[in-house]
Amino acid sequence: MKLKDKVCIITGGAGSLGLATARLFLNEGARLVLVDKDEDQLAHATETLVAETVIAVAADVSSADDTQRYVQVAAERFGPIDVLFSNAGNFGVVAPIADYPEDVFDAVQAVHVKGALLAAKYVTPHMRDGGSIVITSSVAGLRGDAGVYAYAAAKHAQVGLMRCLAKELAPRAIRVNTIHPGPIDNGFQLAVEDGLGRQMGIDGTEFFNQIIPLGRHGRAEEVARSVLYLACDDSSFTTGTTLAVDGGLSG
Ligand SMILES: NC(=O)c1ccc[n+]([C@@H]2O[C@H](COP(=O)([O-])OP(=O)(O)OC[C@H]3O[C@@H](n4cnc5c(N)ncnc54)[C@H](O)[C@@H]3O)[C@@H](O)[C@H]2O)c1
Repeated sequence: MKLKDKVCIITGGAGSLGLATARLFLNEGARLVLVDKDEDQLAHATETLVAETVIAVAADVSSADDTQRYVQVAAERFGPIDVLFSNAGNFGVVAPIADYPEDVFDAVQAVHVKGALLAAKYVTPHMRDGGSIVITSSVAGLRGDAGVYAYAAAKHAQVGLMRCLAKELAPRAIRVNTIHPGPIDNGFQLAVEDGLGRQMGIDGTEFFNQIIPLGRHGRAEEVARSVLYLACDDSSFTTGTTLAVDGGLSG
Protein backbone atom coordinates (compact mmCIF):
# COMPACT_ATOMS: atom_id res chain seq x y z
CA MET A 1 0.00 0.00 0.00
CA LYS A 2 2.38 2.69 -1.20
CA LEU A 3 -0.33 5.35 -1.52
CA LYS A 4 -2.57 4.44 1.43
CA ASP A 5 -5.28 7.16 1.71
CA LYS A 6 -3.26 9.55 -0.46
CA VAL A 7 -5.35 11.94 -2.52
CA CYS A 8 -4.24 11.80 -6.15
CA ILE A 9 -5.40 13.84 -9.12
CA ILE A 10 -4.87 12.26 -12.54
CA THR A 11 -5.48 14.42 -15.62
CA GLY A 12 -6.10 12.58 -18.86
CA GLY A 13 -7.50 10.03 -16.41
CA ALA A 14 -9.85 8.47 -18.94
CA GLY A 15 -7.06 7.68 -21.40
CA SER A 16 -4.73 4.72 -21.69
CA LEU A 17 -1.84 5.77 -19.40
CA GLY A 18 -4.15 7.68 -17.03
CA LEU A 19 -6.48 4.73 -16.50
CA ALA A 20 -3.64 2.19 -16.13
CA THR A 21 -2.13 4.47 -13.48
CA ALA A 22 -5.50 4.93 -11.78
CA ARG A 23 -5.88 1.15 -11.52
CA LEU A 24 -2.42 0.76 -9.96
CA PHE A 25 -2.87 3.74 -7.60
CA LEU A 26 -6.20 2.28 -6.40
CA ASN A 27 -4.53 -1.05 -5.65
CA GLU A 28 -1.99 0.92 -3.60
CA GLY A 29 -4.77 2.47 -1.46
CA ALA A 30 -5.15 5.89 -3.12
CA ARG A 31 -8.23 8.10 -3.28
CA LEU A 32 -8.55 9.36 -6.84
CA VAL A 33 -9.83 12.32 -8.79
CA LEU A 34 -9.91 11.55 -12.51
CA VAL A 35 -9.98 14.59 -14.78
CA ASP A 36 -10.61 14.40 -18.52
CA LYS A 37 -12.37 16.42 -21.17
CA ASP A 38 -13.92 13.33 -22.77
CA GLU A 39 -17.07 12.75 -20.69
CA ASP A 40 -18.02 9.39 -22.25
CA GLN A 41 -14.56 7.95 -21.73
CA LEU A 42 -14.54 9.33 -18.20
CA ALA A 43 -17.84 7.59 -17.41
CA HIS A 44 -16.42 4.38 -18.86
CA ALA A 45 -13.24 4.75 -16.78
CA THR A 46 -15.11 5.19 -13.49
CA GLU A 47 -17.38 2.22 -14.31
CA THR A 48 -14.31 0.10 -14.99
CA LEU A 49 -12.66 1.02 -11.70
CA VAL A 50 -15.77 0.36 -9.53
CA ALA A 51 -14.53 2.06 -6.36
CA GLU A 52 -16.05 4.52 -3.93
CA THR A 53 -12.74 6.30 -3.57
CA VAL A 54 -12.82 7.52 -7.18
CA ILE A 55 -14.51 10.67 -8.39
CA ALA A 56 -14.52 12.02 -11.93
CA VAL A 57 -14.57 15.62 -13.11
CA ALA A 58 -15.07 16.54 -16.75
CA ALA A 59 -12.72 19.45 -17.40
CA ASP A 60 -10.44 20.98 -20.01
CA VAL A 61 -6.94 21.26 -18.50
CA SER A 62 -6.13 24.29 -20.66
CA SER A 63 -8.88 26.33 -18.97
CA ALA A 64 -8.13 28.17 -15.71
CA ASP A 65 -11.81 28.04 -14.70
CA ASP A 66 -12.01 24.29 -15.27
CA THR A 67 -8.75 23.75 -13.40
CA GLN A 68 -9.97 25.69 -10.36
CA ARG A 69 -13.21 23.69 -10.49
CA TYR A 70 -11.55 20.26 -10.46
CA VAL A 71 -9.15 21.32 -7.70
CA GLN A 72 -12.06 22.63 -5.64
CA VAL A 73 -14.02 19.39 -6.09
CA ALA A 74 -10.97 17.33 -5.08
CA ALA A 75 -10.21 19.43 -1.99
CA GLU A 76 -13.84 19.55 -0.82
CA ARG A 77 -14.39 15.82 -1.25
CA PHE A 78 -11.04 14.46 -0.01
CA GLY A 79 -9.09 17.29 1.68
CA PRO A 80 -5.41 18.13 1.02
CA ILE A 81 -3.92 16.74 -2.20
CA ASP A 82 -0.86 14.47 -2.08
CA VAL A 83 -0.15 13.65 -5.72
CA LEU A 84 -0.75 15.45 -9.00
CA PHE A 85 -0.25 13.36 -12.13
CA SER A 86 -0.40 15.91 -14.95
CA ASN A 87 -0.90 13.61 -17.89
CA ALA A 88 -3.55 14.90 -20.32
CA GLY A 89 -2.24 15.13 -23.85
CA ASN A 90 -2.96 15.61 -27.55
CA PHE A 91 -0.58 15.04 -30.45
CA GLY A 92 -1.19 17.53 -33.27
CA VAL A 93 0.13 16.53 -36.68
CA VAL A 94 3.38 15.55 -38.42
CA ALA A 95 4.20 18.09 -41.16
CA PRO A 96 7.20 19.88 -42.70
CA ILE A 97 7.96 23.20 -41.01
CA ALA A 98 6.78 25.27 -44.01
CA ASP A 99 3.34 23.66 -43.79
CA TYR A 100 3.05 23.36 -40.01
CA PRO A 101 -0.42 24.66 -38.99
CA GLU A 102 -0.23 27.47 -36.44
CA ASP A 103 -3.58 26.61 -34.83
CA VAL A 104 -2.44 23.02 -34.23
CA PHE A 105 0.76 24.30 -32.66
CA ASP A 106 -1.23 26.53 -30.29
CA ALA A 107 -3.69 23.76 -29.40
CA VAL A 108 -0.89 21.35 -28.47
CA GLN A 109 0.96 23.91 -26.29
CA ALA A 110 -2.35 24.76 -24.59
CA VAL A 111 -2.90 21.22 -23.33
CA HIS A 112 0.64 20.16 -22.40
CA VAL A 113 2.33 23.40 -21.35
CA LYS A 114 -0.47 25.66 -20.17
CA GLY A 115 -2.37 22.64 -18.82
CA ALA A 116 0.58 21.50 -16.68
CA LEU A 117 1.25 25.09 -15.54
CA LEU A 118 -2.37 25.68 -14.51
CA ALA A 119 -2.56 22.35 -12.69
CA ALA A 120 0.55 23.21 -10.65
CA LYS A 121 -0.63 26.79 -10.05
CA TYR A 122 -4.02 25.80 -8.63
CA VAL A 123 -3.17 22.45 -7.01
CA THR A 124 -0.08 23.47 -5.01
CA PRO A 125 -1.94 25.79 -2.59
CA HIS A 126 -4.08 22.74 -1.67
CA MET A 127 -1.17 20.28 -1.67
CA ARG A 128 0.22 18.68 1.45
CA ASP A 129 3.93 19.37 2.10
CA GLY A 130 5.87 16.28 1.07
CA GLY A 131 3.62 15.71 -1.97
CA SER A 132 4.63 14.74 -5.48
CA ILE A 133 3.95 16.15 -8.95
CA VAL A 134 4.58 13.93 -11.98
CA ILE A 135 4.22 15.38 -15.47
CA THR A 136 3.92 13.06 -18.48
CA SER A 137 6.36 14.36 -21.04
CA SER A 138 7.59 11.89 -23.69
CA VAL A 139 10.65 10.55 -25.43
CA ALA A 140 9.78 13.52 -27.67
CA GLY A 141 10.70 15.73 -24.70
CA LEU A 142 14.26 14.36 -24.86
CA ARG A 143 14.87 14.18 -28.62
CA GLY A 144 13.57 15.83 -31.77
CA ASP A 145 12.30 14.33 -35.02
CA ALA A 146 11.50 16.07 -38.31
CA GLY A 147 7.88 17.17 -38.53
CA VAL A 148 6.92 16.65 -34.86
CA TYR A 149 7.11 20.40 -34.16
CA ALA A 150 4.19 21.08 -31.85
CA TYR A 151 4.46 17.91 -29.79
CA ALA A 152 8.25 17.90 -29.33
CA ALA A 153 8.26 21.61 -28.44
CA ALA A 154 5.49 21.08 -25.87
CA LYS A 155 7.13 18.00 -24.37
CA HIS A 156 10.50 19.80 -24.05
CA ALA A 157 8.73 22.81 -22.50
CA GLN A 158 7.27 20.57 -19.79
CA VAL A 159 10.82 19.71 -18.71
CA GLY A 160 11.61 23.42 -18.21
CA LEU A 161 8.41 23.86 -16.25
CA MET A 162 9.21 20.82 -14.10
CA ARG A 163 12.73 22.08 -13.29
CA CYS A 164 11.43 25.50 -12.19
CA LEU A 165 8.67 23.95 -10.07
CA ALA A 166 11.12 21.53 -8.44
CA LYS A 167 13.23 24.48 -7.24
CA GLU A 168 10.30 26.55 -5.97
CA LEU A 169 8.57 23.69 -4.19
CA ALA A 170 11.62 21.99 -2.64
CA PRO A 171 11.34 23.98 0.63
CA ARG A 172 7.92 22.33 1.08
CA ALA A 173 9.44 18.92 0.24
CA ILE A 174 7.13 18.70 -2.77
CA ARG A 175 8.98 16.75 -5.46
CA VAL A 176 8.44 17.43 -9.16
CA ASN A 177 9.58 15.13 -11.97
CA THR A 178 8.78 14.34 -15.59
CA ILE A 179 8.25 10.88 -17.00
CA HIS A 180 9.18 10.18 -20.61
CA PRO A 181 7.38 7.21 -22.14
CA GLY A 182 8.56 5.88 -25.46
CA PRO A 183 6.10 4.43 -27.97
CA ILE A 184 3.33 2.62 -26.08
CA ASP A 185 1.07 -0.03 -27.55
CA ASN A 186 -2.13 2.07 -27.52
CA GLY A 187 -4.44 4.17 -29.68
CA PHE A 188 -2.59 7.45 -29.11
CA GLN A 189 0.66 6.03 -30.46
CA LEU A 190 -1.05 4.17 -33.29
CA ALA A 191 -2.46 7.48 -34.56
CA VAL A 192 1.04 8.99 -34.39
CA GLU A 193 2.47 6.04 -36.33
CA ASP A 194 -0.24 6.25 -38.99
CA GLY A 195 0.62 9.94 -39.55
CA LEU A 196 4.36 9.34 -39.55
CA GLY A 197 4.01 6.25 -41.76
CA ARG A 198 1.99 8.17 -44.37
CA GLN A 199 4.48 11.05 -44.29
CA MET A 200 7.51 8.76 -44.74
CA GLY A 201 5.85 6.09 -46.90
CA ILE A 202 6.68 3.33 -44.38
CA ASP A 203 4.98 1.11 -41.78
CA GLY A 204 5.19 3.44 -38.73
CA THR A 205 4.74 0.68 -36.16
CA GLU A 206 7.46 -1.52 -37.65
CA PHE A 207 9.74 1.52 -37.90
CA PHE A 208 9.49 2.09 -34.15
CA ASN A 209 9.97 -1.58 -33.30
CA GLN A 210 13.24 -1.43 -35.24
CA ILE A 211 14.63 1.74 -33.63
CA ILE A 212 13.67 0.93 -30.01
CA PRO A 213 16.68 -0.93 -28.50
CA LEU A 214 14.40 -3.30 -26.55
CA GLY A 215 12.70 -4.07 -29.89
CA ARG A 216 9.08 -3.54 -28.87
CA HIS A 217 6.48 -1.01 -27.80
CA GLY A 218 5.90 -0.44 -24.10
CA ARG A 219 2.71 -1.27 -22.20
CA ALA A 220 0.62 1.27 -20.30
CA GLU A 221 1.12 -0.77 -17.10
CA GLU A 222 4.90 -0.41 -17.43
CA VAL A 223 4.55 3.37 -17.51
CA ALA A 224 2.11 3.27 -14.57
CA ARG A 225 4.66 1.45 -12.39
CA SER A 226 7.21 4.20 -13.03
CA VAL A 227 4.63 6.88 -12.25
CA LEU A 228 3.94 5.08 -8.97
CA TYR A 229 7.65 5.14 -8.15
CA LEU A 230 7.78 8.94 -8.61
CA ALA A 231 4.46 9.48 -6.82
CA CYS A 232 5.29 7.55 -3.65
CA ASP A 233 8.02 7.74 -1.00
CA ASP A 234 10.22 5.20 -2.83
CA SER A 235 11.58 8.23 -4.70
CA SER A 236 11.82 10.48 -1.62
CA PHE A 237 15.21 12.00 -2.65
CA THR A 238 14.33 12.40 -6.36
CA THR A 239 13.22 15.77 -7.68
CA GLY A 240 13.87 17.88 -10.77
CA THR A 241 14.65 14.84 -12.86
CA THR A 242 13.59 13.17 -16.11
CA LEU A 243 12.73 9.46 -16.03
CA ALA A 244 12.75 7.77 -19.43
CA VAL A 245 10.49 4.71 -19.80
CA ASP A 246 11.22 4.17 -23.46
CA GLY A 247 13.00 0.86 -24.07
CA GLY A 248 16.25 2.78 -24.57
CA LEU A 249 15.02 5.01 -27.43
CA SER A 250 16.36 8.27 -26.00
CA GLY A 251 19.72 6.83 -24.95
N1 LIG B 1 0.95 6.66 -26.01
C1 LIG B 1 2.23 6.90 -26.11
O1 LIG B 1 2.97 6.17 -26.79
C2 LIG B 1 2.83 8.06 -25.39
C3 LIG B 1 4.22 8.20 -25.41
C4 LIG B 1 4.80 9.28 -24.74
C5 LIG B 1 4.01 10.18 -24.06
N2 LIG B 1 2.65 10.03 -24.07
C6 LIG B 1 1.88 11.00 -23.33
O2 LIG B 1 1.13 10.31 -22.36
C7 LIG B 1 -0.02 11.08 -21.98
C8 LIG B 1 -1.23 10.16 -22.00
O3 LIG B 1 -1.41 9.68 -23.32
P1 LIG B 1 -2.13 8.28 -23.64
O4 LIG B 1 -1.18 7.46 -24.40
O5 LIG B 1 -2.78 7.73 -22.44
O6 LIG B 1 -3.23 8.80 -24.71
P2 LIG B 1 -4.81 8.86 -24.57
O7 LIG B 1 -5.29 9.59 -25.78
O8 LIG B 1 -5.34 7.49 -24.33
O9 LIG B 1 -5.05 9.73 -23.26
C9 LIG B 1 -4.96 11.14 -23.25
C10 LIG B 1 -6.16 11.67 -22.51
O10 LIG B 1 -6.03 13.09 -22.37
C11 LIG B 1 -7.32 13.64 -22.54
N3 LIG B 1 -7.22 15.05 -22.92
C12 LIG B 1 -6.74 15.58 -24.08
N4 LIG B 1 -6.84 16.91 -24.07
C13 LIG B 1 -7.40 17.25 -22.87
C14 LIG B 1 -7.76 18.49 -22.27
N5 LIG B 1 -7.61 19.65 -22.91
N6 LIG B 1 -8.29 18.47 -21.02
C15 LIG B 1 -8.48 17.29 -20.37
N7 LIG B 1 -8.17 16.09 -20.90
C16 LIG B 1 -7.64 16.08 -22.13
C17 LIG B 1 -7.98 12.81 -23.64
O11 LIG B 1 -9.39 12.92 -23.64
C18 LIG B 1 -7.48 11.41 -23.27
O12 LIG B 1 -8.39 10.71 -22.44
C19 LIG B 1 -0.09 12.24 -22.97
O13 LIG B 1 0.44 13.40 -22.36
C20 LIG B 1 0.83 11.79 -24.10
O14 LIG B 1 1.38 12.89 -24.78
C21 LIG B 1 2.05 8.99 -24.70
